[in-house]
Amino acid sequence: MSPTPPISVALNDLLRQTTALQHELAASVNRVLASGWYILGRECAAFEAEFAAYCGVPHCITVANGTDALELALRGLGVGPGDTVATVANAGGYSTTAIRAVGAEPLYIDIDPSSMNMSAADLAGRLTPAVRAVIATHLYGRMADLPALLAVAGRAAVPLVEDCAQAHGAAIGGRKAGSWGALACFSFYPTKNLGALGDGGAITTNDPQLAQRVKSLRQYGWNGKYRCAEYGRNSRMDEMQAAILRAKLPHLDGWNARRRQIAATYSAALAANGVDCPRDFGENYVAHLYVVRSQARDRVRAALAARGIATDIHYPVPDHLQQAARGTPAAAAQLPATEQAAGEILTLPCYAELKDEEISAVVGALQTLAQEARVG
Ligand SMILES: Cc1ncc(COP(=O)(O)O)c(C=O)c1O
Repeated sequence: MSPTPPISVALNDLLRQTTALQHELAASVNRVLASGWYILGRECAAFEAEFAAYCGVPHCITVANGTDALELALRGLGVGPGDTVATVANAGGYSTTAIRAVGAEPLYIDIDPSSMNMSAADLAGRLTPAVRAVIATHLYGRMADLPALLAVAGRAAVPLVEDCAQAHGAAIGGRKAGSWGALACFSFYPTKNLGALGDGGAITTNDPQLAQRVKSLRQYGWNGKYRCAEYGRNSRMDEMQAAILRAKLPHLDGWNARRRQIAATYSAALAANGVDCPRDFGENYVAHLYVVRSQARDRVRAALAARGIATDIHYPVPDHLQQAARGTPAAAAQLPATEQAAGEILTLPCYAELKDEEISAVVGALQTLAQEARVG
């Protein structure tokens, strides 16, 4: 009898979800094909209503992707050249891209090392009158400390934009991500907890005026057909993606529960071995990414790769240290917690369709490494 080959575990496998939902997705696509209407039609309007209800807000405006959502949110708030926007430097650079796109300058706030989200204490010490907005990212699916951040921003009368691209369905005290900020931005990139089969994004808000402005900005700045009130963008969601997202939305809570369960299984094995890993699996964490920290990160990563387990680093280079930032005021930011985390973080496979035997393979490999004292 030949020995069973070792399991190799990928970081993600999008085909599994597409296959599991193939009938629902095919019905959605066929409905759009038969409709004869392909941009901003009934499917978009229905998804906007359904996603707004899911987030607990009155308004949702779909756009082409999550980065556009951030840019249009800033433009909706009137942020432009000469303004400063506070954000974090450890969240993949998407907020920085949007801040730069509107001609503003990022002000990087350090992270709280325990959550890896924006530190309210650091924000409190760094808000100046030049700061016109704060973008708080719910990184890895863990909600930022919005009560504290909103208190700090509110004292300075600065609006806060949530970046919920990794946190669909997370909540604090039953109040969902996307319902706290002046505006909130979502990405439906295929790997997200709620992912399209292409690009997609959305902005949610409680504010009818901001909703109206963003709606106009996503379509050339029109306030009526062919009537331009101000210059905007072309950033629309297509009907196919909206129909696909409508089919997937009812599954989101179940997928999030499975992600949390996988994260809790990993942490139960790792915490016992003293590894720095997520410890809280309540409603405020939807396990978009399961990230551990280790001073021996690169060795652990190589050892896991040798056992067939894929990992990644989200994200290896903080925004202020990127080549593109050279020569800008933001490049001089002092962010000790952000920089230390960048050298230690490691993302393990965590997605809803991961099989039990794959989870066991990851746990087994990590336990072996921890027992060899090579993780911590
Ligand atoms: C935290 C965060 N913000 C914004 C984005 C940008 O979204 P998109 O890729 O749809 O532009 C992403 C994902 O890519 C993200 O992870």
